Amino acid sequence: YMNYRVPRTRKEIFETLIKGLQRLEYRGYDSAGVAIDGNNHEVKERHIQLVKKKGKVKALDEELYKQDSMDLKVEFETHFGIAHTRWATHGVPNAVNSHPQRSDKGNEFVVIHNGIITNYKDLRKFLESKGYEFESETDTETIAKLIKYVFDNRETKDITFSTLVERVIQQLEGAFALVFKSIHYPGEAVATRRGSPLLIGVRSKYKLSTEQIPILYRTCNIENVKNICKTRMKRLDSSTCLHAVGDKAVEFFFASDASAIIEHTNRVIFLEDDDIAAVADGKLSIHRVKRSASDDPSRAIQTLQMELQQIMKGNFSAFMQKEIFEQPESVFNTMRGRVNFETNTVLLGGLKDHLKEIRRCRRLIVIGCGTSYHAAVATRQVLEELTELPVMVELASDFLDRNTPVFRDDVCFFISQSGETADTLLALRYCKDRRALTVGVTNTVGSSISRETDCGVHINAGPEIGVASTKAYTSQFISLVMFGLMMSEDRISLQTRRQEIIRGLRSLPELIKEVLSLDEKIHDLALELYTQRSLLVMGRGYNYATCLEGALKIKEITYMHSEGILAGELKHGPLALVDKQMPVIMVIMKDPCFAKCQNALQQVTARQGRPIILCSKDDTESSKFAYKTIELPHTVDCLQGILSVIPLQLLSFHLAVLRGYDVDFPRNLAKSVTVE
Ligand code: F6R
Repeated sequence: YMNYRVPRTRKEIFETLIKGLQRLEYRGYDSAGVAIDGNNHEVKERHIQLVKKKGKVKALDEELYKQDSMDLKVEFETHFGIAHTRWATHGVPNAVNSHPQRSDKGNEFVVIHNGIITNYKDLRKFLESKGYEFESETDTETIAKLIKYVFDNRETKDITFSTLVERVIQQLEGAFALVFKSIHYPGEAVATRRGSPLLIGVRSKYKLSTEQIPILYRTCNIENVKNICKTRMKRLDSSTCLHAVGDKAVEFFFASDASAIIEHTNRVIFLEDDDIAAVADGKLSIHRVKRSASDDPSRAIQTLQMELQQIMKGNFSAFMQKEIFEQPESVFNTMRGRVNFETNTVLLGGLKDHLKEIRRCRRLIVIGCGTSYHAAVATRQVLEELTELPVMVELASDFLDRNTPVFRDDVCFFISQSGETADTLLALRYCKDRRALTVGVTNTVGSSISRETDCGVHINAGPEIGVASTKAYTSQFISLVMFGLMMSEDRISLQTRRQEIIRGLRSLPELIKEVLSLDEKIHDLALELYTQRSLLVMGRGYNYATCLEGALKIKEITYMHSEGILAGELKHGPLALVDKQMPVIMVIMKDPCFAKCQNALQQVTARQGRPIILCSKDDTESSKFAYKTIELPHTVDCLQGILSVIPLQLLSFHLAVLRGYDVDFPRNLAKSVTVE
């Protein structure tokens, strides 16, 4: 966060940084840290103060106020502070490994990093051979040391901060969003990214100098840090940078995600890979080393529609709970303006120009991780039916491990709530390299996946903060169904089916409300189950994905063992687990698999199992054998999975609360998994 000519006390600066971190906590939260100017900032000998702490942001917040050396009332007219919350990838969570990482004991350069540096071992070896001493086990520390190395070996005294950073990133492999601060460049900030998201928010009472920031390019290539680049960059003038007109007060917010800054400003610039953004004297400029033909020559300031209250908990005890209960609206928003219930047509604006090409393809490959993968499993059958194409569903990591053959006439879908999941992003790049048409299905405008795909669908579910994905799943589900409907518009043989599905979509928000009204009953069920060690969830056909997704929800937030089992596989192994004690949830709906599910039910009851059955309201047959039933409203078979997953979302929530766990921040997990 940088305030330029906006006087702020140190306390206010802390508050801005800490609030921002708290909004980002869902991305990772095992430790946190800040770097701000020390007390003697006004005098010649500047210094940067680092405060880092293991644990949640709250622990860091408390630590800040314990620092006797920091006068909270001291006012800074211009100041740049950085803060970070970490989810460990290299090195255990502790204060030394948390960010900001520093170049040396004097904190000459400090850096915060989101991502992973894959060649850090080589860099570390090189820097150690030059006498740089490392204190942490992180990959990030190499960046801090490397910038100092470049600075120590600079060829001219007046080298700019952004040139240093430019030279550093030439040497980095992997993914990163980085923000640097230095005692050598007081009041200046440099940020850059490759593969990890980074945006800049701008706030000023005064008019801004531009809405489009032209990119500056260098004309020469810098091969390595020792190379001396003689070419100067075009001089900065008012048309190549952004500032408040008349050099008036302006504030800049650098963040991985808009939720960290939205309460301050909704005016943001999304950086592209290898952009280097620098603020000096209250002016923001962006430059790149190389120019390629496809480069957009400027970055626009965009106005985000997201509102703060959207990302606040409201009356709910946890974001996850709020998001479960938001589903009547979120599914409606996914369909809004796209499904025309009068004409029975569907139009996905982001795909319409590519429809012809998609119709000509030889197969669809739908790729994702975790819950997003389950959305692909859930819709595979209806996509096959409506598109009349073979549909493969793939876990991104496995897809890459197998070096799966992909062809030019394949269409590859990438499902991702965050749009930043590293495995999914790598699978996307893999498919792009093979010239397949790529389609993004994400919930995050401006995310890497939405930008790197050829076309896409925004699921419009609104920000999802709870680490356990809920409303994104149902919106991803609907987005894929809408795609199938759009593809089948001119298939005469499919018209009756299409109409049935579209009618089903129309009534979904009301039916979801009906399912949510079962909350108390599900809470009572959780009271019976919360001390169990294990929970099996069985089903088949359209509801198999519900079992996988339900079991994932239970695992991730309750830490109970849970398994989603395809009922058809029961007798091939899992039946051995069934006895009087083992809780078994069975999803049995009135659909083409009903009779086969009855067989599974018989197999379970014959082993004295006591099944808890999620069934259709009018199903007297299944309820006869049930230990307990949760009766759900009926909808068209291929949409039933949207209704059947909600009781399991609610059940996992109540189980986690009863077991005393933090629902929104499950241990060892992060919202955006930006590492492989
Ligand atoms: C589970 C969950 C994860 C994510 C997975 C992919 O509740 O949230 O399994 O679904 O990490 O994340 P996205 O959808 O952001 O690519």
